[in-house]
Amino acid sequence: MLRAVYPGSFDPFTNGHLDITRRGAAIFDELIVAVLINKSKKTMFDIKERRMMAQDAVKQLSNVRVSMFDGLLVDFMRKEDSKVILRGIRALSDFEYEFQLAQMNKQLSQDTETFFMVTDAKYSYLSSSGVKEVFQFGGAIQEFVPEVVLLKMQERLHQG
Ligand code: PNS
Repeated sequence: MLRAVYPGSFDPFTNGHLDITRRGAAIFDELIVAVLINKSKKTMFDIKERRMMAQDAVKQLSNVRVSMFDGLLVDFMRKEDSKVILRGIRALSDFEYEFQLAQMNKQLSQDTETFFMVTDAKYSYLSSSGVKEVFQFGGAIQEFVPEVVLLKMQERLHQG
């Protein structure tokens, strides 16, 4: 039974995240999408909203569950009895940061392994911050995010 953790801020969850989640779920027996709480980082959506959107986006995937974590990822992994971290790589520019993260996690917990999954080419330009920027300037984002995220962003716009 191989349980992997797919961690991130998911502010918000995009179709790129969904692609990695789907493909990860096809490889691992169980996949936990772990949403970082991190109160010090300024996010557009609070932790409950980010979790709700991720949950709705993955609801068809029976071996995926969404959880939240604060503090060190390796501590969360221990609690969930998982040794595998799944991360998506879009381009070479992602690699340096991801490599550091993987090395740091390895230092903190020797038996943790990071698996990188190459993002599908059609999502290689996609990022949560890009989606937020396009939306803030009135651009169309329906191709980039699950429906629940689109609705939530539109709701936010109407709230002002
Ligand atoms: O989607 P993101 O924001 O790039 O995800 C980054 C994340 C959540 C994977 C990373 O910041 C993280 O694991 N934070 C928890 C704190 C931690 O464990 N840090 C040690 C590794 S540097």
